[in-house]
Amino acid sequence: MIQPWFLDAKLGIFIHWGIYAVNGIPESWAFFNEEIAYEDYMAQCAGFTASHYDPQAWAQLFKRAGARYAVLTAKHHDGVALWDTQVSDLNVVERTPAGRDLIAPYIDALREAGIKVGLYFSHLDWSHAGYAPLPVGRRTISTLTNATYPQLWPQGAATPAWQTFHTFYHKQLEELCTRYGALDLLWFDGDWTPDDDAYWRMDELRARLEDWQPEAVINGRMRGRGDYRTPEQGLPILPPEGPWEFCVTINDSWGYQVHDHNHKSLRQIVRMFCEVIGMGGNLLLDVGPKEDGALQPEQVDRLEGLGDWIRKHAEGVYGTRAGLPPGHLCGASTLSQDQTTLYVMIFDRPWDAIPIKGVRNGVNRVSVLGAGQELPYQRIGGAAWLDIPGVLWVTIPEEVLDPCATVIKIELDGPLNLYRGAGQA
Ligand code: GLC
Repeated sequence: MIQPWFLDAKLGIFIHWGIYAVNGIPESWAFFNEEIAYEDYMAQCAGFTASHYDPQAWAQLFKRAGARYAVLTAKHHDGVALWDTQVSDLNVVERTPAGRDLIAPYIDALREAGIKVGLYFSHLDWSHAGYAPLPVGRRTISTLTNATYPQLWPQGAATPAWQTFHTFYHKQLEELCTRYGALDLLWFDGDWTPDDDAYWRMDELRARLEDWQPEAVINGRMRGRGDYRTPEQGLPILPPEGPWEFCVTINDSWGYQVHDHNHKSLRQIVRMFCEVIGMGGNLLLDVGPKEDGALQPEQVDRLEGLGDWIRKHAEGVYGTRAGLPPGHLCGASTLSQDQTTLYVMIFDRPWDAIPIKGVRNGVNRVSVLGAGQELPYQRIGGAAWLDIPGVLWVTIPEEVLDPCATVIKIELDGPLNLYRGAGQA
């Protein structure tokens, strides 16, 4: 069920942590795409130590970053569970030197820090024989039964193999949902194959989840039975319908990848964050810890920097709603819930005053958020007899510019009243 906390949260941290961090290769996809044989992929288990796992430090960092929730990969498509699942020995407790449940300490640490708890879980499981892991021609899995996509799936959802898988994965979800107390968010993935509702029976799953975790927010990757949309990696140009969250990596990888140094700059991340909240969404920013649980220093830097920016501009972030629709300004904006205050985010160094179009309201005051300084503004042009407002030009002196994004607070004389027309003459 969608919850008010989710709409107000604005920032979450996504954590892709699993055995793939040992070699530093793509999570799960490495064997699916035959970059590595299944056995070699699974051999990473021997190197997964969690020896520097410090979930309290994670939680403190996330808090400093300004995040209000976090989502950890309890089980990715590779099927390796981060907890001691009773229905499979493919878990870090039995198969890796980590040798313990990694979910419980994460949950405790988040709760202690006041951060909402989310778990990621992949519906599909490329290690479960009943799921029919890999298409023929791409099978590198020798340890599994001879189940394959073409053999199994055309026979329909009622095959015993599929039923075994279905029961198995619901059992794992039951474990996650009944062992750790209340979870705030369940983040599903991998609902795309088979592309047939009859297999997944998501209504049934949804009912179970609501039974186990009545308060939990459920993301949209439930073949349409979720609470919100989850565009990933490509920033939406138009806001998705309803509640949404944009998930994105800091470099180009979800998990830790040895060769990926392509980290986005802090300025790019702040800008992306502004654009997302300006369209009414949340940002779910991903980190990929190493096998020992240490976070990549470049990613820590970005989180600290984002946190500094958010702290300075918190009033224009938390609890706000989408701001002006496209076309009214260059930049992003949010709106207070009572709709009387606009927060305009300026990304670039202005050559001139900043124009804001279409605002019919009178303006009580314009100031710089974080600095407090009042700013001069002018209304220019417009066609009062057609109720087309003049452009509001706000002057921003150089010395109040924020190196990442400057936020201008515009206090209106009432709820925002926008002109959205095409002219009349
Ligand atoms: C995709 C990928 C997966 C990643 C997820 C995050 O669905 O399959 O590797 O975890 O995106 O949104």
